[in-house]
Amino acid sequence: MSNPKHFLSLADVPASELRSILDEAHRIKKARSGYPKGRIDADAPFTGETLALIFEKSSTRTRFSFDMGMRQLGGSSITATSNDMQIGRGETIEDTAKVLSRFVDGIMLRANSHETLTALAHNARIPVINGLTDYNHPCQIMADLETLEERGGALSDMTLTWVGDGNNVAVSFVNAAAKFGYKLRISCPDGYTVQGQGIEAARGQGASIETITDPLSACKDTDVVIADTFVSMGDTDADKRLSDLMGHQVNDALMNAAAKDAIFLHCLPAHRGEEVSASVIDGPQSAVFDEAENRLHAQKAIIRWCFNA
Ligand code: CP
Ligand code: NVA
Repeated sequence: MSNPKHFLSLADVPASELRSILDEAHRIKKARSGYPKGRIDADAPFTGETLALIFEKSSTRTRFSFDMGMRQLGGSSITATSNDMQIGRGETIEDTAKVLSRFVDGIMLRANSHETLTALAHNARIPVINGLTDYNHPCQIMADLETLEERGGALSDMTLTWVGDGNNVAVSFVNAAAKFGYKLRISCPDGYTVQGQGIEAARGQGASIETITDPLSACKDTDVVIADTFVSMGDTDADKRLSDLMGHQVNDALMNAAAKDAIFLHCLPAHRGEEVSASVIDGPQSAVFDEAENRLHAQKAIIRWCFNA
């Protein structure tokens, strides 16, 4: 059997293939325009196939978009939290990978630790998709880029500005920068910058990435402003984070510094009054609910890529 195609990090997938996935996401969305949400796509490419959806942490968008996505592709899904499974009682992820490879056709995992995801992939004979780890969130960024192309045109002409914690979602924006050619500015307070070698690696591939501590300067004339929670799942120092990060709230002052009609993105769930003001997330420049919807279309394209369908 040939090696399965995993979707673990945008850094691992060639730019041309990411471009094809995004093109497919646009096509898939248009093709079912006006369909009832539960209707199966005309080509039903996954009839008889099943994706396992495993969660070590909470989820609304990832859970429902993968489940509906598989239904629309003609297949089905089985959802379980790790507490429902023997991994919650100490069974190894390696054994879990080998067992699930006998039952289902692919696995989506939301994991506490990125190492759990890579161990699952190394031991699975079927494709594994990253539904978020402590390190990155690649499916989210594909939906975000789909949203920007719908609203704003060519990614290579855009400057995107990340404001706040240099977290898992920020890492995937870094990983995609060289692949799609957008300019990326990252504005985090001291101690909250993007961890690891990701920025240097992306720059080495030609990405334009600036780190600018002052959020107002970072947002000046930018085309896209992006926020995410100050306290991610698994963070234990909530009070300190809120106090350290409040100076990086996306509010009207930052949006006014950005280009006219700049787009606001947030992967959700949001905390109004913390990382973003209600005036911005509920205002006319916010694209957050299109962004949430596009999780569905982008992930269907990712599933098709994994299965060569
Ligand atoms: N954006 C996102 O991944 O949302 P969920 O945590 O609800 O899946
Ligand atoms: N950074 C957030 C994203 C949630 C979708 C977290 O990891 O909790």
